[in-house]
Amino acid sequence: MATPTLDKTDKAEAGFADSPYITATFRIRRFNPEVSDEAQWQDFEILIDPKERVLDALHKIKWELDGTLTFRRSCAHGICGSDAMRINGKNRLACKTLIKDINPEKPITIEAIKGLTVLKDLVVDMDPFFQAYRDVMPFLITKGNEPTRERLQSPEDRERFDDTTKCILCAACTSSCPVFWNDGQYFGPAAIVNAHRFIFDSRDEGGEQRLEILNDRDGVWRCRTTFNCTDACPRGIEVTKAIQEVKRALITRRF
Ligand code: SF4
Ligand code: FES
Repeated sequence: MATPTLDKTDKAEAGFADSPYITATFRIRRFNPEVSDEAQWQDFEILIDPKERVLDALHKIKWELDGTLTFRRSCAHGICGSDAMRINGKNRLACKTLIKDINPEKPITIEAIKGLTVLKDLVVDMDPFFQAYRDVMPFLITKGNEPTRERLQSPEDRERFDDTTKCILCAACTSSCPVFWNDGQYFGPAAIVNAHRFIFDSRDEGGEQRLEILNDRDGVWRCRTTFNCTDACPRGIEVTKAIQEVKRALITRRF
């Protein structure tokens, strides 16, 4: 199959002789169940400023070369968590990855995150991921005692779960976890991170319930401490550390 290419890839001809634009190849793993049961790689060559992001490149390909290319994105600024994908073999957010940082001299590979069923191209079925999130009850649980004013918390108590409040539910961690690849029943790092956020919140009273949920055979003990999740997290959350803290809380029942 011929590589789809933007018409003016010659810089001088395109009037970009003195510009930073380069011709980069994006090698994208395509899958369309209505066409074939097999996924296949397809190359796209585009003229692009390497200071732009992978998401800009995907937009350019979709809008100018192939409108059937399918991917998720919303905010384009690292907040909604919808555009996690494997870029050059590593989980990243397309909107937070600059082309110049991923060696555009070589073809840049882009594929769907692993461990979740691919629906089309870069779009996966996120239902199992969000089900695990729902299962850990990611909301404040209290047992009566309605306060007459806001529930107070010291800065020190807030600090205990500050890191895990930053999660944007992008699934980069869970879909980089070898345990999750082998057994999609495992809760996965993201669900544990979001359980941590409430277990260590001094205002919450559902910690014991959440710990019991994570004490399950598909729970926190499945973690093999490979640190893939921490490396993958675009928010810089110390995911493995959070999982270790939940394990310790299960043993000591102190949290
Ligand atoms: S912990 Fe990080 S990688 Fe995992 S879902 Fe949250 S933001 Fe994404
Ligand atoms: S598009 Fe929202 S995080 Fe990338």
